Amino acid sequence: MLLSAIFLLACSQVALAKTVYYDWSIDWVTASPDGFSRPVIGINGQWPCPQIDVDLNDRLVVTIHNNLGNESTGLHWHGINQYGHADMDGSAGTAQCPVPPNSSFTYDFPVNQAGTYWYHSHTQGQYPDGLRGPLIVHDPNFPYHFDEEITMTFSDWYHEQMPTLLNYYQSTADVTNNSIQAGQAPIPESGLINDSQNNKIHVKPGKTYLIHMIDMANFPGVAVYFDGHPFTAVEVDGTYTEQHFLGDQNLRIAPAQRWSVLITTKNDTSKNFVIFATLDVNMLFPPHGIPSIKGWNGNTTAWLVYDDAKPLPPQKTFYSFDFFDDVALVPYDRAPLLEPVDRRITMNLQNASIDGITRFTINDVTYLPQKVPSLYTALTVGNYSTDPVVYGENTNPFVLKYGEIIELVINNHHENLHPMHLHGHQFQVLERSYPDTGVFPGTYMANVSSTPIRRDTVMLNKNGWSVWRFKADNPGVWLFHCHVEYHITSGLMATMVEAPDHLGNLKIPKDHIQACKNYGMEYQGNAAGNTRNPLDLNGQVLASNASAFTNNYG
Ligand code: C2O
Repeated sequence: MLLSAIFLLACSQVALAKTVYYDWSIDWVTASPDGFSRPVIGINGQWPCPQIDVDLNDRLVVTIHNNLGNESTGLHWHGINQYGHADMDGSAGTAQCPVPPNSSFTYDFPVNQAGTYWYHSHTQGQYPDGLRGPLIVHDPNFPYHFDEEITMTFSDWYHEQMPTLLNYYQSTADVTNNSIQAGQAPIPESGLINDSQNNKIHVKPGKTYLIHMIDMANFPGVAVYFDGHPFTAVEVDGTYTEQHFLGDQNLRIAPAQRWSVLITTKNDTSKNFVIFATLDVNMLFPPHGIPSIKGWNGNTTAWLVYDDAKPLPPQKTFYSFDFFDDVALVPYDRAPLLEPVDRRITMNLQNASIDGITRFTINDVTYLPQKVPSLYTALTVGNYSTDPVVYGENTNPFVLKYGEIIELVINNHHENLHPMHLHGHQFQVLERSYPDTGVFPGTYMANVSSTPIRRDTVMLNKNGWSVWRFKADNPGVWLFHCHVEYHITSGLMATMVEAPDHLGNLKIPKDHIQACKNYGMEYQGNAAGNTRNPLDLNGQVLASNASAFTNNYG
């Protein structure tokens, strides 16, 4: 009897892996999360977009129907590495074509990473209009005790839609708008928590809460601190950490980053507590003499509420922060530093003005999407897939060999912070310099960890550097980019073509090809759509084509 019960229990661990289906209409919804009513992009007529909850090793199948009428779309599963499923990554121009209005498209992949993730549109510039939501992967073997779970999302918010904001940003004309100067990234009108404001996060006394925090912002990240409830960090970007007690330090959550923390609630319900969440004003433009925030202080208000009948304490305004340094975290699995390095790639990030338009470059190349999604190029040019030329100069391609240990050195030559992200990996973060320290000197700091923390997004300091490592064992085409949505559309992006000769039998599903046909985009051949001679790039999209900057895959 007992034995068979144990046997059943063992089986149930396997049997529990299930398929989770969603059928989503992507449509315009009217919402007023900060009191100002505007169109937002929602799902099945609802906004905020729903949280997806799956268990580790479930299979996730999401079919989207684009009912927007006026914009293309798509979904990226941020932090999910899509091992063996590079065609499900969701990045338009790289892993798929944009999904035009009246088209449907299915994502289908196993979820074999636990922790905190999110989904968002990766059709250029779109997610700050609302198409974004949490993806929580529950783990029956989570290493720490907790009683209950809470998800909190953070973001900046704008009263105009992204195509308009991008147009201001990329405009050469003089723009005079309350929050915009020509060529400067428009600054937000407000900040949101859980896509709303004045949130009451209800808690019970004497409990341990696992709080999944996700920054879904367009531009500035957020500084977070709970009054009277210090954080213990236990996860960053899907990597469990050794418990790290933060005391009264702020968490800096950069756009696209996730943190899970534990808090323990008080044993009594006599008081409520304020949650300090302030847009990271350091990311905005004080160095350029531009007021960082118009008419408000950057606070987003929320409370930990023990008792609705008790008062809600007032907010404070913070102008400077004591941020905890996430490079100091230790991964729970203590995976050792990847060595020896087979190849170092240096990425120099720089702002640029090309034909009077605000752009960014990496190693002097501004990213421009091509006529064929880069993954589809890799799959249709035969042996030429290992030649970077076929992907087009302006995808800024780096072809990696299978199994190589890659060291990425990122030098930020810009007067602003940039949250740099790599698809397909949680890489090791060896170091990050202080602001204004120039470029990587070629030798490491003294304190490189023998078990570095792994993330998929790292905030680089202004005029500073960071050094990362990963093993090129995930065949696919993965973007490396700044997660400020304005900077994606202005070219702060490069393409890692990882082991394209190991893509094997990856077959692009019919509906993915159909999206290209419906959109009017090529799906075979090199960057120029040339199928006969992969080395003939005549017709590739270059910065010298006048129209190159206006096609944002709208
Ligand atoms: Cu959130 Cu290219 O990713």
